[in-house]
Amino acid sequence: MGRRACLLPLLSSIVANVAAIDKGSFLRDDVIEKDVAIIGGGASGTYAAVRLREDYNASIVLVERDDHLSGHVNTHTIPGTNTSINYGVQSYMRYGGAEDFFRRMGVELDPRGYSPRRSTNINLDVETGKALAGFITPSSNETNAALDRWREFTKKYTRFMDPGYWDFPPPDAIPEELLLPFGEIAQKYKIEPAMIRITNIAGVGQGGVRDLMTLNMVAAFGYPVAEGVKNGFIAPLGSNSVLYQRAYDLLKNDVLLSSQIVEGERSESGVRLVVQSTDGTKKLIKAKRLLISAQPSLENMQPFDLDEAETDVYSTWARSGTLVGIAEIPCINENNSLTFLPKAVVPNNYLAVKDYPYQLRFDSTGPVGSKLFRVFWTAKDPMPVDETKKAIASTFQRAIDAGTLNTTGTCEISYKAASDHNAIIWKNDVGLIKSGFVQRLYGLQGKRATWYTGWSWTAHYSSNVWAYTDTVLPRLLKGLKAAV
Ligand SMILES: Cc1cc2nc3c(=O)[nH]c(=O)nc-3n(C[C@H](O)[C@H](O)[C@H](O)COP(=O)(O)OP(=O)(O)OC[C@H]3O[C@@H](n4cnc5c(N)ncnc54)[C@H](O)[C@@H]3O)c2cc1C
Ligand SMILES: *[C@@H]1O[C@H](CO)[C@@H](O)[C@H](O)[C@H]1NC(C)=O
Ligand SMILES: *[C@@H]1O[C@H](CO)[C@@H](O)[C@H](O)[C@H]1NC(C)=O
Ligand SMILES: *[C@@H]1O[C@H](CO)[C@@H](O)[C@H](O)[C@H]1NC(C)=O
Ligand SMILES: *[C@@H]1O[C@H](CO)[C@@H](O)[C@H](O)[C@H]1NC(C)=O
Ligand SMILES: *[C@@H]1O[C@H](CO)[C@@H](O)[C@H](O)[C@H]1NC(C)=O
Repeated sequence: MGRRACLLPLLSSIVANVAAIDKGSFLRDDVIEKDVAIIGGGASGTYAAVRLREDYNASIVLVERDDHLSGHVNTHTIPGTNTSINYGVQSYMRYGGAEDFFRRMGVELDPRGYSPRRSTNINLDVETGKALAGFITPSSNETNAALDRWREFTKKYTRFMDPGYWDFPPPDAIPEELLLPFGEIAQKYKIEPAMIRITNIAGVGQGGVRDLMTLNMVAAFGYPVAEGVKNGFIAPLGSNSVLYQRAYDLLKNDVLLSSQIVEGERSESGVRLVVQSTDGTKKLIKAKRLLISAQPSLENMQPFDLDEAETDVYSTWARSGTLVGIAEIPCINENNSLTFLPKAVVPNNYLAVKDYPYQLRFDSTGPVGSKLFRVFWTAKDPMPVDETKKAIASTFQRAIDAGTLNTTGTCEISYKAASDHNAIIWKNDVGLIKSGFVQRLYGLQGKRATWYTGWSWTAHYSSNVWAYTDTVLPRLLKGLKAAV
């Protein structure tokens, strides 16, 4: 690394951060010195923490904003019972080290694989709430054949994308197909009958998949997940949260929950971070390396004293809205699931499945008699939880008013749990990719002792972010023991 690379960031951090962090204002007990500071304790951050400390003998501190580890994993336990329902992350694929990770944390896999409760799906017109008359769902054979074709298509690109984009081709060598609108590719390769299955799993392309860059579809539903669908997903016995409870039990002396970074200084030789917990206490973290597993949105990155290249990349994200929850809906048949779809899918226009600005599902879940549904909302534009719940209620009300649901008794959606998963996503912009976005993004890895993992950097699944983390850690650790 040249002199320039070392000096420039130092200078800019001095200039930008007029009031540099004052070490002297922290008591000795409030200074945490570690090899690696990890930000975010969801799938990737928790995995990185376990591997760094237990396999690489690196000292760590893991900083998580919530009061528990788990990220997109959400579990609701029915009060007074031991019955728990996963309403965030559902299942996993046997990809990379996923099975080993469950095993080493002492979490047994369900020998039946992933087995959600069976229900009869009813498709409704999202605009009118009426039954979606004339909609022909593809047969499972048609769906599977289309999925086979898509799997073959994605296989070509796995070397560029799985796990992660380290070897992604430079702009002038990107395969043309990846930059075409997905609608063209779907027609050419006859992927349409798989669209309902693909979008149910990947939650991708709200607002319409036809104009989605094919690269973004492969990122959301690439070869590893297509293989996962073919071979069957896996799921732990008990709830998906047990893995994170076990990890917390193991790591807890090195975990700061309900905490966020409020100020940071980074240089090639290490970072200094002020971490504040929700009770207001502040501590100073001094670490040789920083690993950011939370999404690199401008908001999340704001305390880290961004330079121009970082600001440039982190200003480009688009946003997506997701809310998941568990609700008691006593007035509808508990063995039905409801899916609200745009009318444009009738009779068999499967590429229109995401055309509306949002999609809503109520999936029958929980023990028979509990009247519980998993509420699953995905939207092109994110909204605060209260507004999303209002939009869910009015969509449901339209179906009641239309008399579609054979309701009995009061029709209220009574939430037992809900969780906001609004996120940043890669922009759907061919020009951006052609201008070298992937290279600029990956060029940020390792700058000023800062490394990244998580689903902004690879495919959007737990097994993928774990496998990706395995590719980041050796790079991050290079020269660590020598660093001051
Ligand atoms: C509703 C839903 C269902 C899903 N279902 C599946 C599924 O069935 N199977 C699957 O494999 N994948 C599923 N996914 C994909 C999921 O994104 C990945 O499985 C995985 O959770 C990604 O891990 P991650 O570490 O990148 O992010 P996360 O798990 O989101 O972890 C990020 C962590 O960082 C924390 N954080 C954020 N900002 C800060 C901050 N400023 N400071 C400190 N901490 C912060 C967050 O609280 C969170 O704990 C689902 C996603 C959603 C939204
Ligand atoms: C682990 O790291 C500690 C502290 O740096 C060191 O004392 C110890 O010898 C290391 N152990 C192994 C097995 O490398
Ligand atoms: C829940 O499980 C625990 C431990 O297995 C057990 O002690 C307890 O009685 C169970 N509670 C209920 C309500 O079943
Ligand atoms: C579906 O596929 C299976 C296995 O490939 C085959 O046995 C069956 O006949 C097919 N069904 C229809 C209706 O084509
Ligand atoms: C739902 O299905 C279960 C199991 O098949 C059955 O016992 C129950 O009566 C059904 N409920 C309704 C409302 O049909
Ligand atoms: C309502 O009842 C009718 C007649 O029994 C039935 O055909 C229809 O599927 C039911 N709809 C729902 C949503 O249960």
